[in-house]
Order: sequence, then C-alpha cells, then structure tokens
Amino acid sequence: MPTLDIVLSPALWHLQDAKDKNIVVIDIFRATSTIAAALMSGASAVHPMEKADQAKVLGQKGYLTAGERNGLPLEGFDFGNSPVLIQDERIKGKKLALTTTNGTKCFEMAKQAEALQIFSGAFSNIKATAIALINDHQDVVLFCAGWKEQANLEDTLFAGALYTMLKGQFVAGSDAVLMAEDVYLRAEIQGLKFVLSESSHFKRLEKYGAERDMDFSLKLNLLNQCVILHNDELVLSSAVN
Ligand code: MLT
Repeated sequence: MPTLDIVLSPALWHLQDAKDKNIVVIDIFRATSTIAAALMSGASAVHPMEKADQAKVLGQKGYLTAGERNGLPLEGFDFGNSPVLIQDERIKGKKLALTTTNGTKCFEMAKQAEALQIFSGAFSNIKATAIALINDHQDVVLFCAGWKEQANLEDTLFAGALYTMLKGQFVAGSDAVLMAEDVYLRAEIQGLKFVLSESSHFKRLEKYGAERDMDFSLKLNLLNQCVILHNDELVLSSAVN
C-alpha cells in the first residue's frame, strides 16, 4: 500500500524525499484557492513564481500578473491574491503569473524534487484531487505552505481533510498525518469556518476586509478537475489528459 506523508511547513521539506511521489501543494488562504478560482474563471494557465520581479517579467510577455506579500496586494500588479477578485472577465483565455508570500515558493521547491506529479490542492477541488491520488496509487506528500516557515492551521486542516478521504488506501507516513487528521476531525464537529477563524492568517486577512476570500476558499468541490503542474505552469487536468 502506498504511503501518504504531510510536510507541515517548508522548514521541514528537507526531511522529505519526494522523488517519484505525487506532491500536493497546499495554501488554502489563499494561493491554491486563487489558482483554482483563476482556472475556473477561464485562465489558460497559472505560472507560480517565488519572486515578484520574475512575475513582472512574464507580465511584459503578455501574462496578467497577481502579487501578494503579507496578505496585501503588490503595487503594479493586475491583481492581488484574492480568489474572489481574480474571477474577472479579463482573465478569460489569458495566462496568469502569480507570486505570493508562501505558496508559490512551495511550487518552486516541489519542482526540484523530481516528483511524479505536482498538484495544487484546495477545497475547490479536493474530491477530484483525492480521486486522482487514489487512482494513481503512488506515494503522496502533502506539502503545507504554512506562514513564513511556521505551520498554520488552515493548510494542516486541509491536509487532514484530504487524508481522511484517502484513509485505507494509504499508510500514514508520520505522526504529522495523525495530527492533521485530528485537526480536521475537530472541524467536522465544530465547523470548518468556526475552527479556522482562530487561525492567525484568517484574523490577519479579516482585518484587511478579505473575509469573502476565506468564505470562497472553504467552499467544497466547485471544480471537478485536478490542477496540475505541466511545463512549469498550473493547468486543469483536462488540458493535459
Ligand atoms: C500565501 O502565500 O501564504 C498566501 O497566499 C498569502 C495570502 O494570499 O494572503
């Protein structure tokens, strides 16, 4: 039976051997939610970039640009990192260069790992992602973006939710899986938004008036496709298969 492990923060990534495994990058508030929203809204691809100036270079090549640092939009970009505001007519048929505080760096790190496939995981497409991982029957690493190298509640909770959908088909690779599962089970009882409203980033974004983004990010299965990295860009799985 294949194993599933969870990396709670990029600071722990070096302990993981993700070669030939399926990696799911998770940044619920908000990068992977924004990526799903952009593709649902007709963007042809999302290019995740660690550095803002790299995204700007793509902007000069016809990409729309979306940038965020510390929860706030970057000056001079077409969009911030709002999964609600990215659902804009302008994005139809266009490619988007995205740079965020934590999430986009994790895609760059995952690309170095010689992974089997790299997925972008969000509640918007959790079921499609779970089905793909089960059908693939390969080892899985759930990679939480966290906040500035620290673990965070929302990404850990999502990893726990995804694990509960895969349980029985995968062996838990470490105690991080059991911890994430417990976080999710609490949310099943107390409610997703109730539990996540305690997260530091939820509170930060709420202060910035971005609560609609969190409401959107917690909506389940708006998208019945996976989001996968193909030629360095994130696309809907139907665009590849
Ligand atoms: C991140 O990269 O951690 C998030 O996307 C930050 C945000 O959008 O507020």
